[in-house]
Amino acid sequence: MNQIKIDPERQIGGISRKIFGGFAEHLGRHIYGGIYEPGSPLADENGFRKDVLAAVRRLKMPVIRYPGGNFVSGYRWRDGVGPKAQRPARVELAWQDIESNHFGTDEFVAWCRALGTEPYLVVNAGDGDMREARDWVEYCNSATDSALANMRRANGFDAPHNVKYWGIGNEVDGEWQIGHKTPDEYARTYKEFAKVMRWVDPSIKLIAAVSSGWGYQPVERTQLLFEAAADFLDYLSLHWYVGNHEDDYEKYMTLSEFFEAQLSAFEGLIAAMRQEMGIERPISIALDEWNVWYRARGNTSDERNNLEERYNLEDALVVAMHFNAFIRHCRSVRMANIAQIVNVIAPIFTNQEGLFLQTIFHPFELYASNCGDIALDVFWKGDTFSGGDYTGIRTLDVSATIDAGGKKLSLFVVNRSLIETLETRISLADATFAGDVAVSVVNGPDIKAENSFEQPEQVTLRESRDRAAGKDYVHAFEPHSVTALVFEI
Ligand code: AHR
Repeated sequence: MNQIKIDPERQIGGISRKIFGGFAEHLGRHIYGGIYEPGSPLADENGFRKDVLAAVRRLKMPVIRYPGGNFVSGYRWRDGVGPKAQRPARVELAWQDIESNHFGTDEFVAWCRALGTEPYLVVNAGDGDMREARDWVEYCNSATDSALANMRRANGFDAPHNVKYWGIGNEVDGEWQIGHKTPDEYARTYKEFAKVMRWVDPSIKLIAAVSSGWGYQPVERTQLLFEAAADFLDYLSLHWYVGNHEDDYEKYMTLSEFFEAQLSAFEGLIAAMRQEMGIERPISIALDEWNVWYRARGNTSDERNNLEERYNLEDALVVAMHFNAFIRHCRSVRMANIAQIVNVIAPIFTNQEGLFLQTIFHPFELYASNCGDIALDVFWKGDTFSGGDYTGIRTLDVSATIDAGGKKLSLFVVNRSLIETLETRISLADATFAGDVAVSVVNGPDIKAENSFEQPEQVTLRESRDRAAGKDYVHAFEPHSVTALVFEI
């Protein structure tokens, strides 16, 4: 029998709700035809799709990043404010499209407010300059009588938008980016942008674009950023996309080890720089683009369809493993933004008549709904598997949280076995189970099962209740499933 031992007093630390963040970029059918479709019978008076709003609300995203992504490195925010008829359509180089600019800052902030989420804006550090960046902060956040604050008022927003999170550039480490920068160029750019943005609004939190992966000098970039601009660093941004490139399920399931290695390495890097420079305040990781993305990537000549990844059950398990890693690394990962939200590598998929929820929607909702305030350091052992270069990987991937009051314990378990139901003894130290257990399971008929307009519930969430008393509780975890057990203790 597998074993999970939980001591509610072995706490790793507080969890930032911002690990349930999202990302909305202007590309493909994400904004136009996804979030925003004026004239559609499904849209509200602002042109926002009501069915999409309702689905996104279920994900409880506390923060959403916008407008890119690669798109931002050629974006002029002024193009996207003011009367729509006067907004210029521009050739958009990152995704080779025409951008109408009918959806811009004010629409995005209004959409966030309708969701109850914090907007996180990324400024153009590609072909944009620091004046433009600083002006955008002023347009959004100034309560003064300045021309830019009055421009916002004239556009219908009397009160400041109070945008708290600001990123400076996107994936500047890649040649694919408009305005790619060497480590040194970016460190200097970051500092000068950050300085004037903070002078406009000292309360903003700043996010530096550090790494699209180990191939792009993350160590040097981190060091130079600290040396040039430590006072202006709140978060360091990383991005990654993963996939089952070789159609090898076991190898795909060992991605948990990749997540552990990446996050441990980056938290070590940040800790070393803080130590060397005597910085006491925390500087956190923002994994502000992550997801499964490998199929709809250059497979067809139609760029829009290229981006519309269709997910299956194994991808949902990988999304769940991400959240387990974020919970275990709660001290360093203080923001994470799934890329993206609607249609484009997204949990929600629309057409003109409606939407369906992709497989990856369900683990996201499961974690966002059941995650507690504090991460626990869980011990578990039992069955193992081999995949890729790894042997002896525990078949269950586990994390646990507790609420601030110490009475509600959430246990998250991914069973990566293809065929075995894994009976597991869950034991509590220094506490007892006090009755009710809420059981939520994401599963489907097989690991390749997908949802679609025709079959929207192949992979879905099932809920039931159970009872637990004393110090031990035995649960049978279904093959290829994600389970949340929420106990009263
Ligand atoms: O999310 C899609 C793209 O992936 C983003 O525009 C870019 O930042 C990343 O390479």
